[in-house]
Amino acid sequence: MAISQETIDEVNRVANVYDVVSDYISLKKTGSVYVALCPFHSEKTPSFVVSPSKNIFKCFGCGIAGNAIKFVMEYEKVSFTEAVIKIAQKYNIPVKFENDEKDKIFKGLYLVAREILNFYKENLKNSSLAKDYIKKRGILPRIIEDFELGYSPTDIGLLKKFIEEKNISIEDLEKIGLITNTENGIKDKFAGRLIFPIKDVKGNVVAFGGRALEEGKQPKYLNSPDTVIYKKGNTLYGIYESLPYIKEKETVIIVEGYMDLISLHQIGIKNVVATLGTAFTQNQARLIKKYVKEAIIMFDSDSAGKKAAIEASKILLSEGITVKYAYYNDAKDPDELSKKGISRVKEVINQSKDIILFLLEKLNETENLDEQTKLKKYRTTYNYILDILAHITDPTLKISYIKLISEQTKRDVSKVEADIETHRKSIEKQLQQIHQNTDEEDKMDLKTLPIKQKIILKYILDNPYVLQNEEIYDIILSLGSLNYYIEIVKSENKEKIDKIKESLSKDTVLHSLEKQGTLETNFRKIIEDLKSQYQKDIILLKLEAEPQLKLEEFIEEIKLFKGGDSR
Ligand code: UTP
Ligand code: MN
Repeated sequence: MAISQETIDEVNRVANVYDVVSDYISLKKTGSVYVALCPFHSEKTPSFVVSPSKNIFKCFGCGIAGNAIKFVMEYEKVSFTEAVIKIAQKYNIPVKFENDEKDKIFKGLYLVAREILNFYKENLKNSSLAKDYIKKRGILPRIIEDFELGYSPTDIGLLKKFIEEKNISIEDLEKIGLITNTENGIKDKFAGRLIFPIKDVKGNVVAFGGRALEEGKQPKYLNSPDTVIYKKGNTLYGIYESLPYIKEKETVIIVEGYMDLISLHQIGIKNVVATLGTAFTQNQARLIKKYVKEAIIMFDSDSAGKKAAIEASKILLSEGITVKYAYYNDAKDPDELSKKGISRVKEVINQSKDIILFLLEKLNETENLDEQTKLKKYRTTYNYILDILAHITDPTLKISYIKLISEQTKRDVSKVEADIETHRKSIEKQLQQIHQNTDEEDKMDLKTLPIKQKIILKYILDNPYVLQNEEIYDIILSLGSLNYYIEIVKSENKEKIDKIKESLSKDTVLHSLEKQGTLETNFRKIIEDLKSQYQKDIILLKLEAEPQLKLEEFIEEIKLFKGGDSR
């Protein structure tokens, strides 16, 4: 039986090479590293070095080097699996095994996905429509090859013929989330789209993304659903292709979209991964953490992109990965920026700043603003800083940031610490409220939800990326009653999402809207209506959302609102 990847990942994440090595030999501190006589060859002067910061050991005498697992393998002369188990025991990490059956299913589906990709690649060669689109987007042939782009033909007969030849079953196509299978036969969900294969770190094809060729067609991108071989929040687009460059540069640039990544690669910036428009997850941070200790966030330049950057920073920093923010406002996304040439992109990357430092500088950038706006801006930015700090667990990192904040804001260290603590408590309280209230079962029964809210919820479930639109997101949150479900959608908790879907699937009105294809129109109309109401409510909502607001500030804000109203 093979040891589960999950256990290996956890061991890699937790194991500290210094800890592990010092269980076997005694180490002596020299500067920022530890040295010893090499246990793997005989020597009189120590050339065996352990670097806690890099979390590796290396002997400059015999050349042996690696991480904690490698050390145990070599020292104890045991297999990889045995070494992982030993370390897992040391750290009380539960050891899980992959059963071989599951392994086989995985391998089978990887092969199916690979075959389908080959089919799509072949079809790209035959489609002048797709080739024209690629040309229009400025994608070079070299990139088509490197990223194995493809095209899914609109004629389903071609796919049928292909799978027959290759002996691939319809069930397997369903398992990899490629098709819908109805009485009228099978349908390729990606038909007529430019295909971006999504690969895991080892290069297995696990999912597909498809770009509509026509402007305005919805959805613009279609992605494989979660399947046995693909969990959205566990993968990063481009990780396989970019990995050697990520290791070489010791940093990774994180972008949002397929095209952002492709365009950066094309101009020679290759240490890039893409989140694919969904919220950045803890598992994605852990994946990155295996290779680097620093990430550069280069999201879209709009306010949704900026908010998403703050959210991603919290997660990265909670894993101890430091974050730089690449700021630009002369393009909407890295794809568009790269059209300005390599030197501009390099400039943006080189000028990227530690996210906290960036926000601290923002605090004082208040020229040309009236007093009230200044105050508001200051408070919003300061709250972002607190929010990020509240998520940092590494004490050394936290303290150095607190000092920095204290210096820049001229606020006592103890006060900054208290601010963070207050903020942390308020987050905790909000989370509790989400989890408490009525009991779970009741909430999953959506019968009593008004139809308009059902429409919103259904649309979001099918198109979670709309939550990235800041305005839509805020408007929906302003309803209050959907917050619980929105949190679930954002957390990508499949089990709960399925429960909501199941409950909604019983609604006949929703059913008929979907059949007529008017769910989206209805969704947009409802949002428009809510928008006007929302603008009126916005000020009160803000006050609720910021419980730490002081009474005087509250009054100021009300005055400001009234003043603004009568203008
Ligand atoms: P964007 O809307 O920024 O797309 O979404 P883009 O990358 O600029 O796309 P182009 O340049 O118009 O082709 C960023 C990412 O969000 C996901 C995709 O992964 C996309 O790359 N997304 C976006 C979807 O999954 N579905 C959508 O309908 C839109
Ligand atoms: Mn974009």
